[in-house]
Parts: sequence; structure tokens; C-alpha cells
Amino acid sequence: MIIFSVETSCDETALALVEAKGDGNNPQFKTIKSLVASQIKIHAPFGGVVPSLAKREHEKNLPILFEKIFSGKIKMKNVDLIAVTVGPGLEPALWTGITFAKKISEKYKKPIIGVNHLEGHLYSFLLSLNAKKDGRFDFFPGIGLVVSGGHTILVLMKNLFEYKKLGETCDDAIGECFDKVARILNLPYPGGPEIEKLAKNGDDRKIQFPSPMVNQKNYNFSYSGLKTAVLYHLKGIQKEKNSHLWTSPKNGKRISKNDLKNNADVSASFQRAAFEVVAKKTLRAVKEFGAKSIFVGGGVAANKNLKKRIENEAKKNGSAVSIFIPPFKYCQDNGVMIAVAGFMNHLKNKKYKLEAEGNLNF
Ligand code: KG4
Ligand code: ZN
Repeated sequence: MIIFSVETSCDETALALVEAKGDGNNPQFKTIKSLVASQIKIHAPFGGVVPSLAKREHEKNLPILFEKIFSGKIKMKNVDLIAVTVGPGLEPALWTGITFAKKISEKYKKPIIGVNHLEGHLYSFLLSLNAKKDGRFDFFPGIGLVVSGGHTILVLMKNLFEYKKLGETCDDAIGECFDKVARILNLPYPGGPEIEKLAKNGDDRKIQFPSPMVNQKNYNFSYSGLKTAVLYHLKGIQKEKNSHLWTSPKNGKRISKNDLKNNADVSASFQRAAFEVVAKKTLRAVKEFGAKSIFVGGGVAANKNLKKRIENEAKKNGSAVSIFIPPFKYCQDNGVMIAVAGFMNHLKNKKYKLEAEGNLNF
């Protein structure tokens, strides 16, 4: 089956053509083409995504990418199914993709299926499997961890079709926290990759930031306090070093030169505190449910340090759990994961309304 997918939930306009085959015991996917038009540069000056700008950019990008994706051998007449993200996300942005996909579906008389963006991230681990090497599925029960700009969710997967949410963040998402801390440190948006880079030169034990809820016996998270702790830490330093203030040529803010060196330690220590909770709670879930695998998805999964932290935690627990993280390009928002989730919906006959639902959850 050839699937054409459309993703416009946030600040990436993403289209993909994916060949899908197999069944719920062994689905297989081959990316024919994947295009992502990032709007990062447009939103960066605002320090976050502006919904009205995102909508305008998606409307501009969709026809251009559509022409590009069908410029090869595969044409719309070869497509068997159209998959489109219906939520969660920014509703004006989601509507652009839904309206576009519906029009194409009507024009070419092709079936269309709605996709939950979170299921896209959850199932993206399927793109890290090598069908020949990994053979049939023997990965369940598994623990799914979705870590993105909008979500921090732990899921128990009984099999590919049956899953249950174990817990999620009570306030900010982990990616959002990276973005906010980056902003405090005067780093560009999106902050995650910037903090990961800076953290490489820092001492991750230099500052003891809190890892909220780490000892609570539930699978929920909280990230707003961590961001505030970073802010207070930096304010304290600022006071101490007031005599060495200089003016940043970038934005005119007055900061201490010593803070620049300190920022690497702050980034490393913050990253450690942020990942401590997800790593610990994920492994606790592995133990409680006897999971054989961990499936990580979402933009924050692109951070190499996260995998290391989960591996270390597994080692500490003497757990032989397998950890699956999709390739970098499939961690961040993309159309391929939407095609994958669309195929899974098709197999299980799961239907979402073709309407934008900003708060759609698992
Ligand atoms: O999944 P995604 O592309 O979009 C959402 O569905 O939200 O995730 C974007 C988020 C942003 O908050 C970004 O800062 C974060 O993922 N991110 C990272 C890294 N790369 C992206 N966070 C930590 N480390 C990274 N290397
Ligand atoms: Zn996402």
C-alpha cells in the first residue's frame, strides 16, 4: 500500500510517500520520499511558534511540497491512502493540512484517514527496525516514551494495537522546558539542540537542580519548577557578579562574562536533572510491567544524552531491556511517522474525525 501523508500540527510542513506492508504482527515501511519545510527561522525571533504565522506558511508551503513530492515516478494515481494529522497541535495549523488533504482526497477519489500526532511519535520506533534483522515482533510488553515540545507521556504497550497511558506531565512538556531554559540563557529557538551542544562542555554535577516528582510513585512529570530553578540560579549568579557586567552585542542585555562559561555547566546540570526523571520513571515502568522494550519518540529523543541516560538506568537496574529510538530525522516532526500511524489506524480500523482537535490526547 502506498500512503501519502500530510503533517501541519506545528511549525513544520511535512509531506511523505511511504510504502507500507505486513500486518499488526510485522508491519514494514519503506520511505519513498519525505519532505519537511521548517519554519524555525520565521518563528525564532518570537522565541516560539506563532499560530497565525504557522498557518500562513503551511498554506504557502503545501502546494509547493505537493508538486515536489509527486515529481518522481510515483503519482497521485498510485496512492492507496491519504493520512493527515488531526491533532494535537495548533488548530489553525492543523486545519490547513486537513483542508488540503481533504481537497486532494476528493479530487483524486482516494480514501483518507485521520492521524493522532502522538501516535506518529509513538509508532516512529517502527522506522528504526530492520525487518530482516529484527524479524517478527517479540518486543512486548513495551514502554513507550513520547518526549516532544508539547508532550511528556509514558505509555504501556501490550502489543502494537493495545496501549494505555501510564502518566504525563502536569504542566510544561520536557521540550518546552528545554526551549524556555534556552531562552533564559539567550540561546536561539528551538532550545533543545542548543542546550545539548552547550552541555557537552559543561559539568553536569556542578549545580544540583531539582528533578521534580522523581520519587513520587506515579508516572507523571512536572517541568515548570525546573525552569524556575534555573532562572533563580542565574539570578543569584547575576547578583554576585554585578561588578563585572557587560552588554551583550546580540540583544543589549547586561550579563556577566563569567556567566558565559557558567552556561555550559547550567546546560549540562539542567539536562541531567530533566532526563533523570524520565529515565528513572521509564525504568520503573519497565520493572513494574515486565517490559522487554522501550520505544522513545518525539523531538527530545534526538538528544543523544537521553539514550545514554536510559541505558545507564537500565544497567543500574540490571535490566536487559532493548531501547529503540528512531533515526534523527524521524524524531522531529515529519510526514513518515504520520504515514506509519495512518497505516496502523487502517489495520485496526481506527477512525478519527477529519477535524482539527488541538487537545487530542492518547
Ligand atoms: O516532536 P517535535 O519536533 O515537535 C512537537 O511535536 O512538539 O519536538 C520539538 C521539541 C522542541 O521543544 C525542541 O527544543 C526539542 O523537541 N528538541 C530537543 C532536541 N532537539 C529537539 N530537546 C533536547 N535535545 C535535543 N537535541
Ligand atoms: Zn511532534
